[in-house]
Formats: sequence, C-alpha cells, structure tokens
Amino acid sequence: MKKELKLTINGQPCEVFVRPKTTLVELLRDELRMTGTKTGCQDSACGACTVILDGKAVKSCSILAIHANGKEVLTIEGLAEGGHLTPLQEAFLDHGAVQCGFCSPGMIMATKALLDENPNPTEEDVKMSIEGNLCRCTGYVDIVEAVLTAATKSNSEVKK
Ligand code: FES
Repeated sequence: MKKELKLTINGQPCEVFVRPKTTLVELLRDELRMTGTKTGCQDSACGACTVILDGKAVKSCSILAIHANGKEVLTIEGLAEGGHLTPLQEAFLDHGAVQCGFCSPGMIMATKALLDENPNPTEEDVKMSIEGNLCRCTGYVDIVEAVLTAATKSNSEVKK
C-alpha cells in the first residue's frame, strides 16, 4: 500500500504517494521524472545518485523515499537559477571536469555539500568529499581543481 509523502524538492513543496520500498532516487527519476540524478550501482558504491538531504550529501539509492518525509532534498536540477550556473558548476566546465558527464551530478552535489559546510577546503578535504563517488573516466584531478577554484572564487566574491 502506498504512503503519503510530503517533502520539499529544490525549494518546491511536493506531495506524492509512494510504495514503502521506493528509494529516493526511484522517486526522483521514475515518479517525478527528474533524471538529472543518475543511477549506477544502486548499491551505495558509485555516488552517481548523490543528492543533498537536509544539508548532507547522501546516496539516494540507499535511502527510502519515506525517510525523506518532511525533509528538504536538493538535486542537480535545483542549483542553477534563472539559467545561471553556480560558481561550482562553472568551475567544472572551465576545468574540463565534466568529461563524459555521468558522474558529474553526483560529484557536484557531493562537493556542494562540502563547500556549504566548509567554504575553505583543502585539497585533502575535497578528495575526502568525493571518496564515495566514482568517475569512470578516472579524471579526478580536474574535478578536485574545479572544486578548489570554485571555493577560491566564491570566497573572493564574498570579500568584495
Ligand atoms: Fe547510488 Fe551508485 S547508484 S551509489
């Protein structure tokens, strides 16, 4: 039997009925047709499905949708406003960190959660934040540089 679920997704209130075993990524992709969040392993190993739940990066394949009841979910679709990419998204493009693009939504959400919590991360902090995210192109260097650039740029804009 389906259960009613009320949550906020990318700032918008959302009320849906879901089966008890529906995962958060299934809700996003299959029920709500928000396909920016990717699925890979479906087993908490690849990070492709990473979203931000109440401020924390989580693997949405490993969380039941009903556990997001009353919470705020941020997905890759919720970042750019008015067609303007965030500094983090811009930095991924500028550094060629997107590559094939499959891991990018998860990488961006994982590192956004890091930058929200720690605006001045070290290289090690960035690497730790994406330790659960796999890049099949194996291009981690550009990703780490993009995140560090985004942090520097955001901090210099704050100081202006
Ligand atoms: Fe969720 Fe791989 S699909 S971690």
